[in-house]
Amino acid sequence: MTQLLWTLLTLALSAAGLLMVLSRLRGIAPSANRGPVLAVFVCAAAVVGFLFLFYRTPGTDIGVAQPIPFSHRVHSGVKNIQCEYCHPYVAQSIHPGLPPVEKCLHCHKYIIAKHPEIVKEHWYYDMRAPTPWKKANYLAEHVVFNHQRHIKKEVACRECHGTVETMDRIRGKYFYMEFCITCHRQRNANLDCWLSCHN
Ligand code: HEC
Ligand code: HEC
Ligand code: HEC
Ligand code: HEC
Repeated sequence: MTQLLWTLLTLALSAAGLLMVLSRLRGIAPSANRGPVLAVFVCAAAVVGFLFLFYRTPGTDIGVAQPIPFSHRVHSGVKNIQCEYCHPYVAQSIHPGLPPVEKCLHCHKYIIAKHPEIVKEHWYYDMRAPTPWKKANYLAEHVVFNHQRHIKKEVACRECHGTVETMDRIRGKYFYMEFCITCHRQRNANLDCWLSCHN
């Protein structure tokens, strides 16, 4: 829906630009052959429009595709399954853990068991192969991040990961130091980077 709106907006903008250019041309050189000039402007408008669409359409930032199109919106949003059910170590370990396929099958042995994507889960299970989930979030390598202290202080998942329960695909990000520091300043958390965050 938003995609369509953006497309229409872009087309309207390009058309407006083109009209302006045309009226200008008529004023400056009424008798000149405008064909080639026009072609150049049409191409330029098309290129600008395309770039605008590509970079500005909210819909293009839909997150990385996963081997099984697992949806947080369906599971956390619609079905209201708790984050900790699938990421059980988030408060105890440096690694929050991604659920092994056994956990998916606890439910999907019974729920939509014949769905082609669930059949894929069985394949991973039978092959004893971990699901090759793609990473969505990145942190500079020299930064040590531990969820534990944050969860203890009741910093909500949402504050760092956004409204995951509305996303079909996780829109991950690169966590810059600025992001950490801004919140630490607001909450009077540790700002002593060399002791706490960098090793
Ligand atoms: C039914 C299981 C399940 C539930 C419930 C669940 N997740 Fe996930 N989560 C996954 C799976 C599977 C992945 C890996 C695939 C992906 O990124 O979509 C994942 C990936 C993530 C990632 C991205 C990890 C990365 O950097 O690649 C974040 C962040 C995350 N989950 C947060 C949450 C939060 C917050 C909640 C609760 C609102 C939640 N999850 C609920 C199964 C679940
Ligand atoms: C606690 C139960 C539960 C767990 C655990 C669970 N799911 Fe689901 N899943 C559901 C329910 C309920 C639905 C909705 C079924 C429906 O549409 O009728 C669903 C739907 C789906 C769908 C279809 C979504 C669609 O768009 O139609 C896929 C694919 C899926 N799950 C994959 C997974 C994967 C992969 C895991 C493990 C990381 C997982 N599920 C873990 C309960 C679960
Ligand atoms: C203070 C910010 C913050 C909060 C709050 C937070 N996270 Fe994270 N989370 C991060 C960062 C930063 C990473 C990336 C860590 C990395 O790549 O080493 C991450 C990574 C993850 C991952 C991916 C782990 C992996 O192995 O790839 C999952 C899953 C996750 N978080 C789940 C959660 C859940 C669930 C909650 C709430 C219970 C939560 N997070 C709360 C900052 C946060
Ligand atoms: C939304 C707020 C918020 C964000 C974002 C955030 N933190 Fe924190 N952080 C806290 C709070 C609150 C504490 C708990 C301070 C306490 O225990 O008194 C904390 C504690 C810590 C500690 C433990 C400090 C100590 O005293 O030992 C480390 C390390 C840390 N954060 C690193 C990070 C890093 C790295 C990032 C960025 C990837 C980050 N934090 C992002 C709020 C945040």
